[in-house]
Amino acid sequence: RIHPVVLAGGGGTRLWPLSRQLYPKQFFPLLGEQSLLRDTLDRVGDHQRFAAPIVVCNEEHRFLVAEQLRAGGVSGEIVLEPYARNTAPAACIAALHLVEQEPEAVMLMLPSDHAITRPDAFTDSLAQAEAAARAGWLVTLGVAPSRAETGYGYIRLGGELPDVPGCAHVKHFVEKPDKATAESYLANGNYLWNSGMFLMSARTLLDEIEGLRPEILDSCQAALAGAARDLDFLRLDAAAFEANPGISLDYAVMERTARAAVVSMDAGWSDVGSWQSLWEVLEKDDAGNAIAGDVVAMGTRGCLLRGDDRLLAALGVSDLVVVATDDAVLVCPRERAQDVGGLVAELKQRA
Ligand code: GDD
Ligand code: MG
Repeated sequence: RIHPVVLAGGGGTRLWPLSRQLYPKQFFPLLGEQSLLRDTLDRVGDHQRFAAPIVVCNEEHRFLVAEQLRAGGVSGEIVLEPYARNTAPAACIAALHLVEQEPEAVMLMLPSDHAITRPDAFTDSLAQAEAAARAGWLVTLGVAPSRAETGYGYIRLGGELPDVPGCAHVKHFVEKPDKATAESYLANGNYLWNSGMFLMSARTLLDEIEGLRPEILDSCQAALAGAARDLDFLRLDAAAFEANPGISLDYAVMERTARAAVVSMDAGWSDVGSWQSLWEVLEKDDAGNAIAGDVVAMGTRGCLLRGDDRLLAALGVSDLVVVATDDAVLVCPRERAQDVGGLVAELKQRA
């Protein structure tokens, strides 16, 4: 069986002011009735194919995560990070934990901020990817790009792997290119988006981390060796884990490994990482406005307008994001939505 590893430790800062440090976006219902985290757990709920998940999150969200697992009837391991160090250390911890129990374990890394409208297509792609993962490839699920998004990783498609049909070599992997580069990739046609969902043998991942970023392997080994059980949680050793660099798996490994492969997936995938991507998946009125909450809009086009706990009125504006919560209001052009994370970093400095 495949071992799902759910990454739920992100701050979701690009969805500020809705997403907050104590309550990031993966924990609340953004699109449907239940949270994105629960949607993610549901996709890997088939016990025939998937082992119980490992959820890696920040310790300040432990009760939120435990409650969501309980509500979904899921019994999984919850690993607590004392500091946010991005996804490379989180993946490394999960891989180390897995190989202790099952040396040949294949893990499926799942971000907890995605929407998938055709879950069957997702599981079909996994079946192809699993063969490649067992053969020692780090397999990403790739998605045909529809715009020059700068918030994603891009994969240059290579030839098909000889022994794994449906799975291609990754010629190169470029994480979050600038706008001009993203536009050239889109025009080129031989690029896919990295969905951020990876299937790989835990052993292979550890070998790659050892070769590319050995300091991450060292810190994670020490953090796990010093870990303590606390209720249902596995609490990593804080001092050891703190020594990790804050770096994503994309930059630390995927951009540099020679063992990257890709299976393309047509599952109605979207990342709900920014107001722009949320706007894309939300239902819109005839003028292209996605509206939620207490909102009155006149002569307004292409906007995302959200009024939580207060009335929001818009007149004669286009392509804006306006989100009003009880203590903060965000106004920005939709096309600048990727930069909201930087804005939040600035706000933190001032606080
Ligand atoms: N445990 C843990 N610890 N999880 C984390 C941490 C951390 O420090 N930081 C982020 N995560 C989780 C987030 O909650 C999210 O579910 C997932 O890891 C991915 O992190 P993001 O911060 O959302 O990454 P991204 O969207 O900028 O980029 C990634 O996803 C894109 C597609 O959505 C990359 O993989 C891109 O290449 C990819 O295109
Ligand atoms: Mg994301």
